[in-house]
Amino acid sequence: MSSKVSQNALLNPRSVAVVGASRFEGKVGYVILKNIIDGGYRGKIYPINPQADNILGLKCYPKVSAVNDEIDMAVIAVPVGKVLEVVDDCGQAGVKVLVVISAGFKEVGLEGAKREVELVSIAKRYKMRILGPNCLGYINTSIGLNASFAAIMPPKGHIAFISQSGALLTSLIDRASLEDLAFSKIVSLGNKADLNEIDYIRLLADDPETKVIALYVEGIERGDEFTKIVREVSTKKPIVALKAGVTEVGAKAASSHTGSMAGSEIAYVTAFKQFGVIKAECLSDLLDATKCFGSQPLPKHGNIIIITNAGGPGILAADACGKLGLKLAYLGADVIKELRRILPPAASTNNPIDVLGDARADRYQAVLTILSAKEELDCLVMVLSPQAMTEPDEVAKLLVDFKAKKPEKVIVASFLGGSKVTNAISILRNGGIPNYDSPERAIKALSSLINYKEICDKQQRLLNEGHLRYPIDRDRIKSTLSRAKEEGRSMLLPHEACEILNSCGIRAAPCIVARSPDEAVQAAESLGYPVVLKIVSPHIIHKSDVGGVKIDLRTSSEVKLAYYEIMANVSKFAVGATVYGVAVAPMVPQGMETIIGMRRDPQFGPLLMFGLGGIYVELLREVSFRLAPITKSEALEMIMETKAYTLLRGFRGSPPGDIDAVVDVLLKVSTLCTEFKEIQEIDINPLFVYEKFKGCIAVDAKIWC
Ligand code: COA
Repeated sequence: MSSKVSQNALLNPRSVAVVGASRFEGKVGYVILKNIIDGGYRGKIYPINPQADNILGLKCYPKVSAVNDEIDMAVIAVPVGKVLEVVDDCGQAGVKVLVVISAGFKEVGLEGAKREVELVSIAKRYKMRILGPNCLGYINTSIGLNASFAAIMPPKGHIAFISQSGALLTSLIDRASLEDLAFSKIVSLGNKADLNEIDYIRLLADDPETKVIALYVEGIERGDEFTKIVREVSTKKPIVALKAGVTEVGAKAASSHTGSMAGSEIAYVTAFKQFGVIKAECLSDLLDATKCFGSQPLPKHGNIIIITNAGGPGILAADACGKLGLKLAYLGADVIKELRRILPPAASTNNPIDVLGDARADRYQAVLTILSAKEELDCLVMVLSPQAMTEPDEVAKLLVDFKAKKPEKVIVASFLGGSKVTNAISILRNGGIPNYDSPERAIKALSSLINYKEICDKQQRLLNEGHLRYPIDRDRIKSTLSRAKEEGRSMLLPHEACEILNSCGIRAAPCIVARSPDEAVQAAESLGYPVVLKIVSPHIIHKSDVGGVKIDLRTSSEVKLAYYEIMANVSKFAVGATVYGVAVAPMVPQGMETIIGMRRDPQFGPLLMFGLGGIYVELLREVSFRLAPITKSEALEMIMETKAYTLLRGFRGSPPGDIDAVVDVLLKVSTLCTEFKEIQEIDINPLFVYEKFKGCIAVDAKIWC
């Protein structure tokens, strides 16, 4: 971000010019100007149109530079062919921010892409920032600025919505009043020629009107910057994101076990989870969570109490808690006693509290009075089904009153039904209580609020913890990598991979590449029997499947025979594969088979993987991921997330494994791939893990540049 002034101009512009403000109702430039006027914008408005003197009662100027005033933001809605000339004029007039609505840039192909480059370069020359092009516009409800061509001004609230899709925003704004959605800012990113989600997340972090940042993205280009900023911002306010358009192209082209499992979707999921972004599975999920964050306080205790007048929906709510790993609060003996006193004998005084189907408003009132005295019972889920005696409107009013008296309590409602609850739902909405059309949706939204505290604490801890840079032998690694490059190989030979691991302080089984049976025997003799022979090919990922591995060879004749067999198998079962030879390695004592891998994601960089290793790694998919660099606690978390951890802790009498040694290898691989950006993929499979204090050893390793 260039300066503090432009930060203000970006979020709270004091003056706005509409370039292409049209005289004709229904045209985009007319709608934008009208939206700004109707929204009650408190800053100065300058319509720009060389054909008009006055539009919608405002004096019109032929061009921006003809306005004798400072202009913070210019909204551009002229045909694409005129945009560059307008932008140059804006630059001369000292405009700070451009919101380019016009389409016809990179989304239309090469010519458009060239135009977009030109647009950015003109703006840069004048130090202007660009939102768009090809966007819907920008809305700031707190200053009444609707600089967009959305049909209406959305309700004012605390959700900042950043979207790569303009169409999604228009439908969202239209749906807002039905869905209790109320916004602080709406940002349509368009083509993201300059400003993108990272810039706005950074800006919104300190925006007092914004309690939650909602994000709809199709792609994030600067992944490393994104993760850095969201880790910081997520400790201040929640970020909920929906990612669309995930592809698995990367995974299909992979040549390692890690590569085949660490597709681009995994990179996004990992980035969101690791850096504190709450991932929405779908649009409803995104809206449900954001409206809860936008309207409710953050819970201090996260103790859930379900109040219901119907058994079934109450059970659904309780089940939803169970599925999401949330516990229902124990109400305490005194509360239960009080509830017994005021509720009929058939009512349930446990959690869920069932006030029974014949409950009128007074029964709810009595329950709320009891709960209001308990500060720690802070998350209320009100489930109501409209039965003959039910008074939905009265209950809604009670809840709104309760909320006014106890603003620190989180309240979510699920008033079920249709016409009988419509009015009650609007009472709730006007009173700042979100309603969900099923108990499951209410609980899911509430879970985001409850889990956010944990996210916040964790991200803060990780920020404090920082990354360890392991001492690695950079010169040796560099020379090994350049040797492979000089020889035109993207895959390192096994002994080179071994060398690199050793240079990082990772123990690896030594190996020698043999290109004839005699060389294989020589290698076996120098390493010592028994040995293992493995095919070396950049094209064979599953070596055993093609008969490319022979183990426990104890004599020179066994080695020679194994060599011939491997070559015969490979020419039969892996036709056309390039073969570099056969790797000869000593047999090492069996340990627990794990895998440590890395694939460099185009957006997010090195994606580390850990899990159960061996030949079934892809079948079991018992793996966890993190983006490097990782901290020590993240390395431990990676291990703990997998079933390998159950085994490493010591399963059914087996001794515990050396978890510290695995943490160490993860941190060393993290340092290696962070420092050597030319390394594209690493597959250490298997990494044998021995008993506690006995370490681990990389038995087979592949590295690609
Ligand atoms: N400075 C200021 N105003 C100018 C101008 C200039 N240099 N040149 C022309 N104008 C005026 C025109 O006279 C016209 O005003 P008028 O209607 O009073 O005559 C106004 O600007 C608009 O120009 P016009 O040629 O009528 O364009 P348009 O309204 O048909 O289309 C866009 C302009 C920007 C809406 C259109 O090109 C476009 O890009 N549409 C797609 C937008 C979109 O979908 N964005 C993404 C959303 S997610």
